[in-house]
This record gives sequence, structure tokens and C-alpha cells, in this order.
Amino acid sequence: MDNILSGIKPTGQLTLGNYIGAIKNFVKVQNEGETFLFIADLHALTLPIEPNVLHDNSRDIAAYYLAAGLDPKKANIFLQSDVPAHSELAIILQNYLYMGELSRMTQFKDKSAKMKEEAIGLGLFAYPVLMAADIVLYDSKRIPVGEDQVQHVELARDLVKRFNNRYGDVLVMPKAEIAKVGARIMSLSDPTKKMSKSDPKGDIYLKDDLEVIRKKIMSAVTDMVGKVKYDPVNQPGVSNLMTIMSSLSGKSFDEIEKEFDGKGYGDFKRAVADVVCNELAPFKARYEEVIKSGLVDEVLSRGAKRANEIAEKTLKRVQKAVGLYSK
Ligand code: TYM
Repeated sequence: MDNILSGIKPTGQLTLGNYIGAIKNFVKVQNEGETFLFIADLHALTLPIEPNVLHDNSRDIAAYYLAAGLDPKKANIFLQSDVPAHSELAIILQNYLYMGELSRMTQFKDKSAKMKEEAIGLGLFAYPVLMAADIVLYDSKRIPVGEDQVQHVELARDLVKRFNNRYGDVLVMPKAEIAKVGARIMSLSDPTKKMSKSDPKGDIYLKDDLEVIRKKIMSAVTDMVGKVKYDPVNQPGVSNLMTIMSSLSGKSFDEIEKEFDGKGYGDFKRAVADVVCNELAPFKARYEEVIKSGLVDEVLSRGAKRANEIAEKTLKRVQKAVGLYSK
């Protein structure tokens, strides 16, 4: 069985996009191979963040992992910063990725667009190097992510090809896996933009009360067409709500179109809100239980122990391949 790896950056509040595009899939794959799910806390430092916010967000993600149904006996859940090999490997791998390709990364371009060059941190630019290190450390072939991370995984593949061409079969070739439906959940206030962690009107946060979630869905931007139809180009708002409904209920777009044929957007939005709230109500309750149980730190330290075992072996292999060894 192939190893599986993914991570979430503890920058802002987790969104329904993170839940549908990533967390739900993590739960599915945990039975299919050894799974490494980490909290990318080193990555969170690439943009300014308060220390207490970083610390609290990191534990929160671990709690959400557990609440979603990740079983710490099957999945290794850990903090990236608890495994020093991530940083050590990144220092080596940065020599095999180039400025040109790093500057073409969409995420870098988006995040740095409004910044003055003097204020763009090197870490933000080199973000995909650390991410490539994360990916290759656990010999994982499968990388379940949302669509926005595919470009980074592709770059990690280029790096593996380059590295192995030079040094032999040292690194395992990873591959991004995206959900058939829900790999790119859009903002409710501007459905041409991705739901991110930084747009309170357009985002549904996992922390939001169910009533707030309902209100956000009821006021989601739609269109003047007046028909529930999957047509992302002409009806991006409606199509996004259909995607949310489909990924949480398992209904196909065809079924949803038939169910709401002749009905208005009000009825449709109420039904979407019901599906989202039915999914999130028990999830939020389990999250509260996990927080009360005080289990998070124990899970993180157990996960880090196993992660360190595997990561150190890979790091040694890479060090040896490039000539960094004493005997
Ligand atoms: P992050 O924290 O931005 O997002 C975590 C996961 O959620 C997915 N996602 C979405 N999926 C669908 N619709 C959306 N609107 C949406 N927003 C986010 C992301 O695609 C991602 O899968 N760089 C990564 C963290 C990371 C990582 C890694 C991931 C660091 N190292 C190695 C995989 C492998 C990030 O910032 O994800």
C-alpha cells in the first residue's frame, strides 16, 4: 500500500473549502496506506502571524482532523516543526529548484502581488521548496489536495525527476489527488474567486455558528438566470452551491437539477444550507469533545515520533546521495 501525505497551513480559520477539498478526503484515504497528515506551521510563518494565533490555530487543526474522523491509530498527525528533517531537507532541495520556476507559482504571484519587493520574505518565495521536502520525506506516492495546490505538487514531481536523474532512485515520485467534485470551492460573495481563509463574507468558517452559516448561504451571490443548472461559466454562484451540495450529499449535478427544476433560488439555498448544517453539526460537536478531552497534544507527540522515524531515514538517504556523510 502506498504512503499518503497532506497538510494544512494554520494561517486563518479553516473553511468549508478546506473541509470539502481536503479534510473529507483525508478521512477516506486513511485506510488505504500509511497516512501522514501534518499541520504546516513552518509554512504559516511565510506571512506575518501572531505567535499565539499560530500556536492556537495549529492545535485547532489537529482537533478538526480528529473531529472529522481521522483515527490517530491509523493516521500520523503531527506538527511540521516537530520534525526537523523538513527544514534540513529543504536546505538541500533548494539547490534543485530554480528562481524562474518559483517565480511562476500562482500562489506566490497572488500573495506577493500587492507587496513591495523589499517586503516579500524569502520564505514566501521558497515556499514550494519546503513543500517539496514535506512531500518527499515520507516516500508518499499519493498527495490528496485541493486544486490550488496541484501546481506545487507538480513542481515537487519536477524536482524528484531532476534529483533522481542526477543521483539515482533516491526519491519516490508523488502524485496529486484531487476530489472529483469539490476540489475548488468558491467564495459565496464572489464565486469567481476561491474560498480562502481571509474573506469573512464569502467564506464559511468551520468555527461559524450554524445560524451564521445559514445566513451566509442564504445571501450567497447567484445570478439573474433563475434556474438551478450546473454551468460554472454563466452561473458560477449557483454552480458553486451545487458543488457544495453534491460533495456533501453524494447527489449528482443531474439529480440536483431535476430536484430543483421549476423551484426558486430561495428553496435551493435553504436545501444547501440544510445539507451543510447537517454535516457540520455533528462535526462541530465532536470538535468540542476533542478540545475538552485534552487529547490533542498526546496525539501530536505520538504522530511526531513516527514521522521522525521515517523522515530521518529519507533525510539520511538524501544526504548520502549528495555526498553529505562522514564515513
Ligand atoms: P492550505 O492550508 O491553503 O489548504 C489546505 C488544503 O485545503 C485545500 N483547499 C481547498 N479545497 C477546495 N476548495 C477551496 N476553496 C480550498 N481552499 C483550500 C487546499 O488545496 C489544501 O489541500 N501549501 C498547503 C499546505 C501544505 C501541503 C504540503 C499540502 C504544505 N506542505 C504538502 C500537501 C502536501 C496549503 O497552504 O494548504
